[in-house]
Amino acid sequence: AATTVYQAESATVSQGVVESNHAGYTGTGFVNYDNVSGSYVQWTVTAAAAGTATLTVRFANGTTTNRPMTIAVNGATAASGVAFNGTGTWDTWQDVNVTVTLNAGANTVRATATTANGGPNVDKLTVADGGGTSGPSM
Ligand code: GCU
Repeated sequence: AATTVYQAESATVSQGVVESNHAGYTGTGFVNYDNVSGSYVQWTVTAAAAGTATLTVRFANGTTTNRPMTIAVNGATAASGVAFNGTGTWDTWQDVNVTVTLNAGANTVRATATTANGGPNVDKLTVADGGGTSGPSM
């Protein structure tokens, strides 16, 4: 098993912009989703083996309104209506976990906003891969 970090600012972004004007992000910034339904961030993640993995999305939502998103893996919805509730300020980041099934090798993970408010600000995706070992050093 392995835990890998994938920054949002390195992902594919549709209807959003990379920004760094709120403190507390990791890497070089975060993605500010446009305030529109359908805006998304898509990562390519690699799993050592097929199986269950935990996806952790680190986000901030400085409003008091949930900004739900659908999480799709390889084009299929893995979780819908995932809540990204208000975190108090745009500088306050929290984690949301989603359990999914990954294929061995490359997978796409897309987080798509489903309301006109768009998504929260997203800092990164962490993948805890439940896959098996591939060598004696692991
Ligand atoms: C503010 C905030 C942005 C955020 C936006 C929003 O403009 O500074 O970081 O993305 O609100 O409501 O989505």
